[in-house]
Amino acid sequence: MGFLLRAGGEYSNTPATNTFLDKNKPSYIGGMLEMANHRLYGFWNHLTEALRTGLPQNEARGGGVASFEALYSDPARLKSFLAAMTGVSHGANMAIASKFPWDRYRTFADVGAAQGDLAVQIALANPHLSGIGFDLAEVGPIFEEYVEKNGVADRVRFAAGSFLERPLSHADVILMGHILHDWGLAEKRMLIRKAYEAVPEGGALIVYEAIIDNDRSKNAFGLMMSLNMLIETAAGFDYTGADCQGWMKEAGFRETRVEHLVGPDSMVIGIR
Ligand SMILES: C[S@@+](CC[C@H](N)C(=O)[O-])C[C@H]1O[C@@H](n2cnc3c(N)ncnc32)[C@H](O)[C@@H]1O
Repeated sequence: MGFLLRAGGEYSNTPATNTFLDKNKPSYIGGMLEMANHRLYGFWNHLTEALRTGLPQNEARGGGVASFEALYSDPARLKSFLAAMTGVSHGANMAIASKFPWDRYRTFADVGAAQGDLAVQIALANPHLSGIGFDLAEVGPIFEEYVEKNGVADRVRFAAGSFLERPLSHADVILMGHILHDWGLAEKRMLIRKAYEAVPEGGALIVYEAIIDNDRSKNAFGLMMSLNMLIETAAGFDYTGADCQGWMKEAGFRETRVEHLVGPDSMVIGIR
């Protein structure tokens, strides 16, 4: 698989493996592989059943507890999930922190912030900005530890709550990374509408994940992720840039565009 070099009967890491898959380095991004190993691998045995029934095949299978509640009831599993999110998102987070025209804005709120890597990368690259990481209360201590460790605790704070139940915190820019794909169409539209209500005129919503190409033929990672959402959630699915732009327009955003970030990830930007 290209992860190791073999020379004279000895194995060693490639430069990429050394950077990204050594757990002792801050650049480690293997959390997602750990989660695939511990959780997802077994669930995918039931892909056929998921396709036939449309029902989730994770911890919720056969009437168990729904995805996030099951995850968050076990502190070790919670931490490993949040670290997995950082691994999956780190490259895109750095791209968003540098590519978006942040000089036009002063505040941001990352909705479903997990460990907080997006908020940290934006704050590190843009010293004039301050922001909020919004997520379920259980995530708070893990978020705060990460923000503190990265030296931006004076500009990035945590806000606890459920985005299904309350309005979003007001900010110039609202971000949602790997959030919309967890939910069905009605919740996707509701979250985009809440983001519209939370930003001022000229403010922005940035939605990012493995946005599928409009003819649904090239972004294999995005298409596989959509199957993973079938296995992991009650109604979630991944979607194309055009789908998301359409939902943004419906909510009232006057201008929308899709920009590639890194690998399979793109961001969809809506300007109010
Ligand atoms: C798939 S993770 C994405 C994390 C991060 N944005 C990223 O891209 O790496 C989804 C996040 O949404 C959060 N979340 C789930 N349901 C939520 C709710 N009802 N209100 C607020 N946050 C929620 C989870 O705790 C988790 O951190």
